[in-house]
Amino acid sequence: MNSHDNSYHPYLIPFGPSLSINQTYSTSPNLYMGNQPPSFIKLTPKKTLRTRSLWKPIYDPYYNFLGPVKRSRSTRCPRRHAQMMSHHKASVNPTYFRNGEEPAPRFRMPDQGMLPESAYQMIHDEMALDGKPKHNLATFVTTWMESSADRLYAEAFNKNLIDKCEYQQTTSIEKRCIRMLADLWHAPYPHKTVGVSTTGSSEACMLGGLALKRRWQKARKKQGKPIDRPNIVFSSAVQIVWEKFANYWDVEPRYVNIAPNRLWMDPEGVLAVVDENTIGVIPMLGVTYTGIYEPVAVIAKALDELQSRTGLDIPIHVDAASGGFIAPFLQPDLVWDFQLSRVKSINVSGHKYGLVYPGIGWIIWREAEDLPEDLIFHVSYLGGNIPTFALSFSRPSAQVLLQYYNFIRLGRSGYYEVQRVSQSVAHFLSNEIQTIEPFDVLTNGSDIPVLTWRLKEGFTSNWDLMGNLKIVFYS
Ligand SMILES: Cc1ncc(COP(=O)(O)O)c(C=O)c1O
Repeated sequence: MNSHDNSYHPYLIPFGPSLSINQTYSTSPNLYMGNQPPSFIKLTPKKTLRTRSLWKPIYDPYYNFLGPVKRSRSTRCPRRHAQMMSHHKASVNPTYFRNGEEPAPRFRMPDQGMLPESAYQMIHDEMALDGKPKHNLATFVTTWMESSADRLYAEAFNKNLIDKCEYQQTTSIEKRCIRMLADLWHAPYPHKTVGVSTTGSSEACMLGGLALKRRWQKARKKQGKPIDRPNIVFSSAVQIVWEKFANYWDVEPRYVNIAPNRLWMDPEGVLAVVDENTIGVIPMLGVTYTGIYEPVAVIAKALDELQSRTGLDIPIHVDAASGGFIAPFLQPDLVWDFQLSRVKSINVSGHKYGLVYPGIGWIIWREAEDLPEDLIFHVSYLGGNIPTFALSFSRPSAQVLLQYYNFIRLGRSGYYEVQRVSQSVAHFLSNEIQTIEPFDVLTNGSDIPVLTWRLKEGFTSNWDLMGNLKIVFYS
């Protein structure tokens, strides 16, 4: 073992009694730091030196193997040192730094590295200024899993999901999840259809939109018709991903406006904007801002009638980012999924009501032929022939395993219980909030367990619902 290997030894060193951190922390040689102690000794007050010497043989396994001093660049170069000090505000320099370690510039990679504990502590402390994930209700994303799931995560975080030949069991588990979702959403052939895991619903929506666009292009080409003006239809309350999709892939967005007395996309609005260039209609099962389900079955029926009148065959992709893991359990009789033959694909966020940590989404196609074959790339250089349809290549695999963990750990009855409890919380809160005079409950969690409320008209002109004070000028 050469001395560099030492840097990988864990420094699980307890602090000694009555010693402050910068006095006692180990200064073991490190691959990146060079050996610092002599300069430290020079600069350290006597008392500290004594205390440190006292503890050193116990704490520092490499005490006797310290090599020659390599001074840090800042002490070798006084001008630079002064510069660094004057840029102090733009650097991160916690008090527990070992002597000889440089402050880390905020916006430039430091010339020298630092010991792992210093780097850890710096980042750990900075994170303390973040919000607390468990208090974050803003994005519906899972912030807690049980400890056995955490253990699984820790065992799998270094596996690259794309490496399907190397991690064949992970691949097999991913496939099982796809089959289970296809089955949950009533695909006619859950064992034959296709689907992929993604980083979240956003990537899944992009893939769904691309499949719709390619399918439309192929059909148009077959008919000898132009393909230069595709459009896509969704409500004006759509999640931003669909606006991104339209922008990034050159598809005209066509909005069906919602109204205060109708907070969802209605079939009349859809029929008013679709035409032969429409690649698809995107109802949301769980509108992001209200939690409301858009009426997929009614929209599908309207499009069926349009087809029988005009021959236009316009497919539906359901953005079930939230509802895909709610409706099958809380509203099992609602028909919104592949039971409707017009629904060609569905996406869901595994990291929302799928109850997995951030970083997982899914898209499933009704039947294999609904995903145009020419969108699939076959990668051979990782060994074998790996079909891939994704916007990214390398991805963590742990979340896929955690999704599977939840499927087998909770089962359908477990998912039902979790979602039912969430919904009862939403109902409780909405009932209580409704009794507070200035507020008017808009949605009470009867669709996805999300409630929304508004300030009653004219109740106050001084505050808005975010708690922002509106500035009032008195003359
Ligand atoms: C309806 C809808 N679609 C897509 C998304 C994007 O989901 P993700 O954060 O999983 O990318 C969201 C997120 O809130 C959503 O509500």
